[in-house]
Amino acid sequence: MIKEQILKDTEEIFKNAENSHDFLHTKRVLNLVLELAKDFPQIEEDVIYATCCFHDVGRTIPQDGVNHAIISANYARENLIKYGFTPQQIEEIACAIETHSWSLGREPKSLLGEILQDGDRIDSLGAIGLARMFSFLNESERILYNVDDPFCTSERKPNDKKYTIDHLFTKLFSIPSKLHTEKAKQLANKRMEFMKSFLEQMGLEIKGEL
Ligand SMILES: [Fe+2]
Ligand SMILES: [Fe+2]
Repeated sequence: MIKEQILKDTEEIFKNAENSHDFLHTKRVLNLVLELAKDFPQIEEDVIYATCCFHDVGRTIPQDGVNHAIISANYARENLIKYGFTPQQIEEIACAIETHSWSLGREPKSLLGEILQDGDRIDSLGAIGLARMFSFLNESERILYNVDDPFCTSERKPNDKKYTIDHLFTKLFSIPSKLHTEKAKQLANKRMEFMKSFLEQMGLEIKGEL
């Protein structure tokens, strides 16, 4: 019952969200984290639902330069009591949310924090990861790729402020080495294979192999 209510409320919170961090992203992260949590049955399912559902709500709230993970964690601290969570559970959930953000660069302090970070990062990989990258980064002014060296094979340093595809080299391809759990690493490796074959095909098409 608690989890159904949290999901319903979360869908409402995200109804106007950008599609790279919308309710569908939240649901995929939830599914990934539930899968990772099969190896850790001591983590309660309701706690997983609350952690995943609220991890990005900060993106729907004006941020004023504060990282969305901090806003999400505070939102969880203020709102989870009504679902019947104990103060200890709420703090555990908020702490896990606080450390999930890539840009904040914090290390998780609990297993819950680790599986949230892993699940969230896996959703940046694979076909979904590419779709989100193109959706998120092309919203502003970027060129799709550098025409002389699309995949940073020369001395060129990746610059994802200028070239969308460079985001693979500044962030996404380094994700597998930063995951915590074994299952997450396996899932990430599978998605990396797909992304590399996507790049191979893209390289052929850029070269004019039509
Ligand atoms: Fe996030
Ligand atoms: Fe997220």
